[in-house]
This record gives sequence, structure tokens and C-alpha cells, in this order.
Amino acid sequence: TAKLTHQQDLAGKKILVSAGPTVEAIDPVRFLSNRSSGKMGYAVAQAAADRGAEVTLISGPTALAQPTNLKMIPIRSARELQEQLEENFDANDFVIMAAAVADYHVKEVADQKIKKHGRDVVELELVANPDILAALGQKKTHQRLVGFAAETQNLLANGAKKLAEKNLDMLVLNDVSRSDIGFNAADNEVRLLRPQEEPKLIEKTSKAQIAQEILDELLKLA
Ligand code: CTP
Ligand code: CA
Repeated sequence: TAKLTHQQDLAGKKILVSAGPTVEAIDPVRFLSNRSSGKMGYAVAQAAADRGAEVTLISGPTALAQPTNLKMIPIRSARELQEQLEENFDANDFVIMAAAVADYHVKEVADQKIKKHGRDVVELELVANPDILAALGQKKTHQRLVGFAAETQNLLANGAKKLAEKNLDMLVLNDVSRSDIGFNAADNEVRLLRPQEEPKLIEKTSKAQIAQEILDELLKLA
């Protein structure tokens, strides 16, 4: 089978991956979300499983086929994602946070469908979600933590700040101002940032290949 062609260099490692968007309800039929397709996170999860890791994938709603050989936990909101991450955190060696977490949720979710009649303007009050990754960075012990960053400007400066502030071991920096890479594209080009090291550019290639290179760097952190 195809699986046997992969080097099993992640055998014995437990890897927790989050992927896809989170979805924040407005009412029973409407929500706030973002353009994440889940492709990059799924590629990392699949590559890790192919290389022998025991993978748990916590995923927001995506249109992707479920990867094989891993445990899948579906979530919708940032709060649900946080619950699942906290529950699985201690048992894992690596946590790869590729999910595009909504920064805000709707303060009061309507329990019935909001009707348009008589309303020209509707205001939604939004409340900040907890920074899940930063919280994991504060409590990590043996875990290696990998964050993703989506930036449209000042890439390296913003990335370095997130690496430090969230206490990460690695940050995968994505330029989401380009439409040929990043959100929903088949390809990606990223910079890997690690504390005390020069950023490493992974030039434009398939998300599957980027995933392999992220895992290669991860192994060096082990
Ligand atoms: N993240 C998280 N919890 C949040 C927001 C983000 O865990 N509430 C994680 C993401 O999964 C990602 C990393 O933090 O791994 C960076 O996300 P990003 O949106 O790029 O950065 P933010 O810290 O949210 O800052 P901003 O959106 O203002 O750039
Ligand atoms: Ca954000």
C-alpha cells in the first residue's frame, strides 16, 4: 500500500492537529466564519499519520474528505475547539494549531431565526474569544506547540510577535494577501519561525509538500 512507502519517522509520537474555520452562531440558521478551507491542517494531519504518528484531528466544518488513519473530532465554535484541545492536550507530544479561530463570538445568540420585518439595521454585538493557543503556551510542559499565522502585512514582525507572545516552539507564517497561496488554494508558501533562529522560507509548492517540511522541522524540535 501507499502507506508503506512513507518513512515511519513519527512512529510513537502523538500529534494533535486543529484545522478549518470555527463557526460562531448568530441564530439557528446563520453564523460568522472565515475563508479557511482546512486544506493545510488536513495535509499536516494526513502526512503525520502516514509517517506513523498517532494523530487526533479537531476540525471545524470543511468540504474535505476525512483523512485516513486518524481520530477525528468535529467542532463548530471556538469554545468547542478549546474544550477539545484542553481535553486532549496532556496526552499529546505535539500540538499543531492550523485552525482559523474566530477572534469574536456573538454576545447574544438568538434562539429563534431573526426576522427581517421592520428592521433596516441590525447590530451584532461581538465579544472576544479566548486566545486558545496562548493559553496552551502558558500551560505547556512536555508539549511542542506550533502555531499558524495569517498576515496581510508586516509579515516577519507580526509573526515574530506571535511566536513570542504565544510561547510557541514554531510558527508557520502565511501571507494571506496573495490569492495564489494560502486560504483555499492548493499551494502554499510559508516561512517557519522558531525562537533564536532565522526564518526559513519554504517556497511555493503543494500543501502536501509544505506539510512534510513542517513535520521535518518538528522532528528536529523533539
Ligand atoms: N488562535 C487561537 N485562538 C484564537 C485566535 C487564534 O488559538 N482566539 C491561534 C490560531 O489557531 C493560530 C494562531 O493563534 O495558530 C494565530 O492566529 P492569527 O489569527 O494569525 O493571530 P491572532 O493572535 O488571532 O491575531 P490577529 O488575528 O489579530 O492577527
Ligand atoms: Ca485572529
